[in-house]
Amino acid sequence: MPHTEPIYEHPYPPAELEARHPFRELDFVEYPPGEMSERAAAFEALMSRRRSPRLFSDRPVPRELIESAIRTAATAPSGAHRQPWRFVATESAAVKAAIRAAAEEEERVNYLESRMNDEWQEALAPIGTDHHKEFLQIAPWIVVLFEERFERRPDGETRKNYYVKESVGIAAGMFIAALHNMGLATLTHTPSPMVFLTRVLGRPDNERPFVMFPIGYPLPGVKVPDFARKPLDQVMVTVTEPHSASLERGDDHG
Ligand SMILES: Cc1cc2nc3c(=O)[nH]c(=O)nc-3n(C[C@H](O)[C@H](O)[C@H](O)COP(=O)(O)O)c2cc1C
Repeated sequence: MPHTEPIYEHPYPPAELEARHPFRELDFVEYPPGEMSERAAAFEALMSRRRSPRLFSDRPVPRELIESAIRTAATAPSGAHRQPWRFVATESAAVKAAIRAAAEEEERVNYLESRMNDEWQEALAPIGTDHHKEFLQIAPWIVVLFEERFERRPDGETRKNYYVKESVGIAAGMFIAALHNMGLATLTHTPSPMVFLTRVLGRPDNERPFVMFPIGYPLPGVKVPDFARKPLDQVMVTVTEPHSASLERGDDHG
């Protein structure tokens, strides 16, 4: 049976909307089912090899690759299409040295002066992180992803952004995937509190550091914790009927 598409009672965009705002047809590429499975398996295999190394080589990485990863990340969906992200990139030895020094200072307080509580320290024990952050100076690039809490327009007016953390988190994931896909490694690094990054990188007050990414080739032979990932049945739940409590409340909106 050939597939027939549903007819919508409420088409999108409604004509009045399209009269006021531009729309264009979605550029969607469909693959034959066999190719879909192959692509899915290949991407899953690729992504399952992603790890976060904590020792990087100092081998240079061309700027074009970093730019491509940022352009890819910036294709992320965002609340009200506000694109509330800034990727602040540096390969400057002086900037990386300043970032390392400030990060080590914060991490010294976290690890050696017990700013991290026992439960947190215990969670980190199998990873064995400490306050030494040499890799921040050695990796050829550092990209700090800032969230734009609100937009500051050229006339000084401000404009609210929506779902900033969700949007920036998705962009971060796409950035990591893009780097991994091109054969680069990164560590998701959050030496908190990270306000020092605003200072060292001279960023405006409407931006807040979200996560820092040292980027490069892993040091040959580097080790990573021998972690297993949760299998599908621990991360996926399938629901086949509305939960009885929701029926009692009459929930019917998505
Ligand atoms: C939001 C976030 C913050 C993280 N912060 C740090 C960090 O500050 N230092 C560090 O060594 N690893 C950090 N990590 C990396 C995790 O420890 C790592 O992703 C986890 O152990 C799984 O290992 P994998 O990335 O190799 O799969 C962070 C990861 C995430 C997602």
